Amino acid sequence: MTADELRSKYIEFFKTKGHAQIQGKSLIPENDPTVLFTTAGMHPLVPYLLGQEHPAGKRLVDFQKCIRTGDIDAVGDPSHLTFFEMLGNWSLGDYFKEGAIKMSFEFLTSQEWLGIPAEKLGVTVFAGDENACRDEESAEVWKSLGIKPERIAYRPKEDNWWGPAGTTGPCGPDSEMFYDFGKEPCGPGCGPGCSCGKWLEIWNDVFMQYNKTAPGADGSPGTYEPLARKCVDTGMGIERTVTILTGKKSVYDTEIFAGIREAVEKAAGYTYGTDGEKDKSVRIVCDHARSATFILGDPKAVSPSNVGAGYVLRRLIRRAVRHGRKLGIPDQQQVLPPVARVVVDQFRGPYPELGENQHFIIEELTKEENKFQETLTKGVHEFEKLLPNLLKDPRKIMSGRLAFKLYDTYGFPIELTGELAREKDMTVNRDEFDEAFKKHQELSRTQGGAGFKGGLVDHGEIATRYHTATHLLHKALRIVLGDHAAQKGSNITAERMRFDFSHNAPMTAEEIQRVLDIVNEQIKRNLPVSMEVMSLDEAKAGGAIALFGEKYESQVKVYTIGDFSKEVCGGPHVEHTGDLGTFKIQKEQSSSAGVRRIRAVLE
Ligand code: SER
Repeated sequence: MTADELRSKYIEFFKTKGHAQIQGKSLIPENDPTVLFTTAGMHPLVPYLLGQEHPAGKRLVDFQKCIRTGDIDAVGDPSHLTFFEMLGNWSLGDYFKEGAIKMSFEFLTSQEWLGIPAEKLGVTVFAGDENACRDEESAEVWKSLGIKPERIAYRPKEDNWWGPAGTTGPCGPDSEMFYDFGKEPCGPGCGPGCSCGKWLEIWNDVFMQYNKTAPGADGSPGTYEPLARKCVDTGMGIERTVTILTGKKSVYDTEIFAGIREAVEKAAGYTYGTDGEKDKSVRIVCDHARSATFILGDPKAVSPSNVGAGYVLRRLIRRAVRHGRKLGIPDQQQVLPPVARVVVDQFRGPYPELGENQHFIIEELTKEENKFQETLTKGVHEFEKLLPNLLKDPRKIMSGRLAFKLYDTYGFPIELTGELAREKDMTVNRDEFDEAFKKHQELSRTQGGAGFKGGLVDHGEIATRYHTATHLLHKALRIVLGDHAAQKGSNITAERMRFDFSHNAPMTAEEIQRVLDIVNEQIKRNLPVSMEVMSLDEAKAGGAIALFGEKYESQVKVYTIGDFSKEVCGGPHVEHTGDLGTFKIQKEQSSSAGVRRIRAVLE
């Protein structure tokens, strides 16, 4: 079974069950700046799961391109991917548990469709807690279809609940379907959902019953409000299912990656399967090249940059280039463009936008690769500038924090810092680097996860902090200078923020100090940041600052920072101001007539 066949069969099956096929949406979500990428098939359907009527009806089916980068560092093992395709069917207030499970079972097991023997399946259902009861209803349906009770596992919320954790939106218990590879159970507790390698998830039926509301400004947790109509959201990952159906051990061994892998092997003059470390690099290049191609080929494509989705794209490209170099692809030879051409050819059928944007894809990849090569050169230069001081250390150890700064600021890979240090008979304090790196990762996880199960988005953790600092600065300026000090523009990079505001005279040293004190005071207070969606009129009536002349959607997001600030904004923001560090103003200067500019950093 190929990916094309599986995609077609799925759509066809659900059409026979009265579903209308809808178009998958852009990888860059519309009207939802709180996430950088479409992370699941249900994502574009959230408004309908929350109650809006869908023009195509109550039964829908589609395939959706998705990106999840929360686990980017795990890519390289045989199963992780940052890009994947998700098949899904939806009931918007039509069938519920029984209907969804029966259709899932038929598609999986019927000879006419996937023909998986029922005895190879196991399922999980929600074990119940204070928010929702134990899902005996789903278990009974599975039993009625012939699934043995010992192959039905009851699991807690961490495993069998889907929806936004920590943020708002539709959610509910789910029932997941697993394929049993036939290995011996790893122990007495081993059952569907166990991560020992015996069971692999192939499909997830989510029973959307609740809307999780936002936590209150006072720090109180959100609540689970019953949805007006119950919905079903299901998701089947194409890559994983093809791997199982073709009896392969890894998704990288399937036809989905055959051509892509060949392009990498050819460029590197390396045969996959001969060296464990190199195989890992091959998988990273394959995955990242595919993701980068899809991001750049999207109708709402972003270019590589230091913020948001552009930053994720940059990381994907740079990591792929580095691993391409590790594989031996010489510096003068581009790593990604030849691989991207194969991706375009392979997927332009279901995703015609790739063909239409091929020129842009190749051009952007080429530019970014060249830039990265320059970055590497700059990083080496920076390293050499540091050297005289470093060499003074009698122990010849380079601090891990410095190595992390090179990594964070110049995108300078730690392996390379290590190599350069070795050339000078020095070592890098790896533990200290790992610690700094871990801290940075934790931050991106708590801030960038956007709460979807599976570890997802990376908002550009540094940018997120600067976004929140912008709100604090804006409010502090109004307090110190008066309400005329309104935001005229802002610009954020991974290194600093710039903020333009209306004011007629240079700020005095005293005014600057007062602004600094106010902002840092709010950081010290560790105020909670919360978000609510409302109409623009409601937002203004509630005292939220909205930017004059800005175009807003009819529903806007209002970010409230404790009792200090309330502003209409797309986000993303940190959860608590304590995450910001120390706020420092580096410069206050004129920007244009009547507009001043502040340049500030968080340290
Ligand atoms: N939203 C669920 C998932 O991604 C089912 O589609 O697993």
